[in-house]
Amino acid sequence: MIPETVPKEDVFLASAEFCKTSHVSSFDKYKELYMKSIENPGEFWGGVAKDFFWKTKHCGDFLSYNFDVTKGEIFTKFMEGATTNICYNLLDRNVHEKNLGNKVAFFWEGNEPGDALTITYRELLQKVCQFANVLKTQGVKKGDRVSIYMPMVVELVVAMLACARIGAVHSIVFAGFSAESLCERIMDSECSLLITADGFYRGDKLINLKLLADDALQKCKDKGFAVSRCIVLKHLSKGAEEGSQSPPAKRSCPDLQDNLTGRVKKRRPVPQVPWNPEVDQCWHTLVKGASDQCEPEWCDSEDPLFILYTSGSTGKPKGVLHTVSGYMLYTATTFRLVFDYQPDDVYWCTADIGWITGHSYITYGPLANGATSVLFEGLPTYPDVGRMWEIVDKYRVTKFYTAPTAIRLLMKYGSEPVKKHKRDSLKVLGTVGEPINPEAWQWYYSVVGEKRCPIVDTFWQTETGGHVLTPLPAATPMKPGSATFPFFGVLPAILNESGEELEGPSEGYLVFKQPWPGIMRTVYGNQMRFETTYFKKFPGYYVTGDGCKRDKDGYYWITGRIDDMLNVSGHLLSTAEVESALVEHECVAEAAVVGRPHPVKGESLYCFVTLSEGVSFSGGLESELRNLVREKIGAIATPDYIQNAPGLPKTRSGKIMRRVLRKIACGERELGDISTLADSSVVEQLFQNRCCTA
Ligand code: WTA
Repeated sequence: MIPETVPKEDVFLASAEFCKTSHVSSFDKYKELYMKSIENPGEFWGGVAKDFFWKTKHCGDFLSYNFDVTKGEIFTKFMEGATTNICYNLLDRNVHEKNLGNKVAFFWEGNEPGDALTITYRELLQKVCQFANVLKTQGVKKGDRVSIYMPMVVELVVAMLACARIGAVHSIVFAGFSAESLCERIMDSECSLLITADGFYRGDKLINLKLLADDALQKCKDKGFAVSRCIVLKHLSKGAEEGSQSPPAKRSCPDLQDNLTGRVKKRRPVPQVPWNPEVDQCWHTLVKGASDQCEPEWCDSEDPLFILYTSGSTGKPKGVLHTVSGYMLYTATTFRLVFDYQPDDVYWCTADIGWITGHSYITYGPLANGATSVLFEGLPTYPDVGRMWEIVDKYRVTKFYTAPTAIRLLMKYGSEPVKKHKRDSLKVLGTVGEPINPEAWQWYYSVVGEKRCPIVDTFWQTETGGHVLTPLPAATPMKPGSATFPFFGVLPAILNESGEELEGPSEGYLVFKQPWPGIMRTVYGNQMRFETTYFKKFPGYYVTGDGCKRDKDGYYWITGRIDDMLNVSGHLLSTAEVESALVEHECVAEAAVVGRPHPVKGESLYCFVTLSEGVSFSGGLESELRNLVREKIGAIATPDYIQNAPGLPKTRSGKIMRRVLRKIACGERELGDISTLADSSVVEQLFQNRCCTA
């Protein structure tokens, strides 16, 4: 439970001025609302639901659920039987009922300074309707899965909302993932259509996205799964002939005669766009003839909205499934209250839409509130390390949301590049993705926010759909590094290894005792895996997989993952998926991967590999292994260290003791109890062969 009172000393508070206009203006107010949300979730969320459009109202229970595996199937249902459409609520409702048609939905800022465009709610609605009609003519129907593999462009939002409009289920794959990863995700969710782009620039680097997409489709085909259609956005090569490489195509792609034309101004090499006329279709050609009127498909509250894959400890990613109404209510409410959204805000979340943060807090949450956001294609350090603050000043950003890894990266360059820019528009700062170390918190607070802006350290997961532990900026006294208290409807507990709830100051497993609207509903196509992963260890609880500490004041502090997961730059990877990529190399007999703390990335990948008989370790092999992992998973999983490990520390039953490997990776000799090791001599050998530099 949350404490009666909060400390007045050694905490950071929002200014009285800020609190005056805030939605939740004091800790007492937070407590009062929180108690209501826990004691009567139906009434609490029913109140929130009144702001939205329902084609038909729900009847029966507002919420039904079971979190206890011993009592039958695990499920959560909010407002079952009500019908609505999330795209209608994000766009039509804002344009037609709230008169926000001319309000800017997105300021798009390209990789290259100077590449920019603006799109209003009305324009976004038109584009979404047109593209929804395109999807229909391509044969996409309600419930069909559509895979989206695109850079950070407005059309990515258009594509996802067009799916939502017709009741199709989008499965967005981050454009930094490899062809292999894309193929795996397409096949798992049996997507009938892929939407991609020619390519994009990340800083100076050209990413040939279409080549990767083609490669992925070929891999699917080789495994017996044919995707019949691929829609290609020409982001860089607009106006260029299709099939500039092979095979030559007759059709050519018309230039877009709208405000998205000519957005990439700097003349740079455009990607080669191989064209397969049987599968590939040009986005612009398809859209040209499409009507901008499209009746939304009215969906049940519990119809699927999207699938988003997240790493799983077995190595195979899990397709986290979210449904329409609960996700809508939850992302809209968390966005409004956690960032204390006000109508004149300009909000900027720097995440990629390919991750859950972008789904919930670039697309769904902000648009549900009629907010104006910045949509940024580029990098924080390109063309220089002042880029973020330049953009903040350019658009007069008021609410800014980023990751600890980005803060630590910029911190390395000192305060000068920050101070060159005014940043006087900023009001609230946020972080997400991993624990923020107090030093980075202080820098963010003092240098970036000039001690004026509350920081919301938001703890949540792909699975939770939205923030679950977080300060509310005016209500919660902040402690650097603590995600503080639960959001409305969220009831946390800390359990020990035997599943007992711990009271007062304590440390253990972070779990939740009852559902909130945004919680995932299942693992796509694998209910069993859903139950085993999240509900089996402690019946009656949703298990986050994170460790957590409660201090004497009742504040929650996330201590990091306690399963076989790594958090590299805020992105979760499982040790098993990296290991299985490594052992695919014919020279590798066995591999074990652990995390080693990294000053910017949070954690880096330290890989131990045991080579096959007769193979010797070399620099050449090392770079082959690095490339193999990149190719299998993507650049985010590139190993930082690869160590030759003729033997691995194993128990007598053959289980690798990762705890020992983590110590070796860090060069720490305090190993604790290693009496269960089958052969303890391997430990000394591993210490001697340690990699000290990446
Ligand atoms: C970690 C990202 C500490 C945590 C939204 C969680 C955090 C995992 C925080 C989910 C935070 C996220 N403090 N740790 N504020 N936010 N995490 O699914 O380990 O990509 O379980 O969702 O990130 O990562 P995911």
